[in-house]
Amino acid sequence: MTAENHALRLEAVGKEYRQGENRLTILKDAEITLAPGEMVALVAPSGAGKSTLLHIAGLLDRPDSGEVHVGGVACGTLGDEARTAMRRHAIGFVYQFHHLLPEFSALENVMLPQMIGGLARKDAAVRAQELLDYMRIGARSQHRPAEALRRRAAARRHRPRSGQLAARSPRR
Ligand SMILES: Nc1ncnc2c1ncn2[C@@H]1O[C@H](COP(=O)(O)OP(=O)(O)OP(=O)(O)O)[C@@H](O)[C@H]1O
Ligand SMILES: [Mg+2]
Repeated sequence: MTAENHALRLEAVGKEYRQGENRLTILKDAEITLAPGEMVALVAPSGAGKSTLLHIAGLLDRPDSGEVHVGGVACGTLGDEARTAMRRHAIGFVYQFHHLLPEFSALENVMLPQMIGGLARKDAAVRAQELLDYMRIGARSQHRPAEALRRRAAARRHRPRSGQLAARSPRR
């Protein structure tokens, strides 16, 4: 596979943090190569550097050494504006905390990044509805996140049926 058709490639990535006098080496010569459509789970103990690596791979932080290629583009020398454009068009972030704006409907929340990405309001609405339909929540496009949160809070008050496990994923 050539560098151009990698979805993501981390090449000899290094990252250190300073704590007073001490230097903490978090990543040393980290190598990752992902093909388009490849699904990967990053599993390591707490404090191992997962978030540090994801921030660097997502162009939210810069490594001290090495290079990050996104879709074949070497990102180390790109300026902040080009990296922001790269994040907007080539990278998707799904956060544990949803960061939805409570005063907007589901449709409007999904429209916002489309409009920031350059779509006119009408086209953004069409695209947002397509995305909600794809996620099978199209029928709820006019709901506000706060309503869903209230329903979730109400649902939480019901005890699970015996034999069922109520679980949530860990933070971050
Ligand atoms: N800004 C920072 N300054 C100094 N040390 C930091 C900073 N950010 C992270 N660290 C340290 O770097 C190490 C790796 O942190 P990181 O958050 O990447 O781990 P993680 O694998 O995501 O852990 P968790 O599973 O708890 O989320 C930890 O020891 C952490 O304390
Ligand atoms: Mg983490």
